[in-house]
Amino acid sequence: MNGMAPVITVDGPGGVGKGTLCQWLATQLGWRLLDSGALYRLTALAAQRRNLPLDDEPQVATIAAGLDVEFTAGESGILHIILDGEEVSTAIRRETAGNAASQVAALPQVRAALLQRQRDFRQFPGLIADGRDMGTVVFPDAELKLFLTADPGERARRRHNQLSEKNLSENKMNVSLAALEREIAVRDARDIHRTAAPLTPAADAKILDTTHLSIAQVCEWAAQHARLQWPIPTHQQD
Ligand code: C5P
Repeated sequence: MNGMAPVITVDGPGGVGKGTLCQWLATQLGWRLLDSGALYRLTALAAQRRNLPLDDEPQVATIAAGLDVEFTAGESGILHIILDGEEVSTAIRRETAGNAASQVAALPQVRAALLQRQRDFRQFPGLIADGRDMGTVVFPDAELKLFLTADPGERARRRHNQLSEKNLSENKMNVSLAALEREIAVRDARDIHRTAAPLTPAADAKILDTTHLSIAQVCEWAAQHARLQWPIPTHQQD
């Protein structure tokens, strides 16, 4: 340990189950949670609201650097995300926001502008960091690095269930599974092939293919690694 709070990084593509695992780990350990994707989604949303083209790198980076955002825990642990004084928790979860996020996330100046803001989340007793480059770029000295994968078809199914449950589909009609699969493929390609912090496991990451695993199995796998350093009980299925 280097005097800094400990970090567990959880990276991987969208729809792989990182969010659920990170929530669980944060609850078990009583640590903070960084949802780095939300910062890219917020940057894209703020840029769109100012009618900026998403490829205007200097301007979007300025937006990223000056994001006026508040994360507050509401009743029953629900996280409220407030951008420029307005609740955007639902708006940033939409598929269109995810796509816009992946466009601004490809811009190196935007990534640089968000770097310190992400590192500031590292506070005692510890941090669970959810993203694409947590183990490679933002917290390269993390105590434990996890990387989740799953087949694109399975990830599309999971995203589809999530969107239907939360009724987040645009225009209230169900986004079709086929459309989601196409979007996931486009987003994966952009995240993997970009030059700035591409989606790739850190050399020292523990990698798990979750395609055929339940949430409980994924949590238990992570807990087995985490237990070598911190106390975590066995995952209880709800
Ligand atoms: O994880 P989430 O779907 O919220 O992320 C939205 C987009 O933000 C991703 O598709 C990715 O392009 C980008 N992102 C990133 N680096 C992170 C987290 C998210 O590039 N650490």
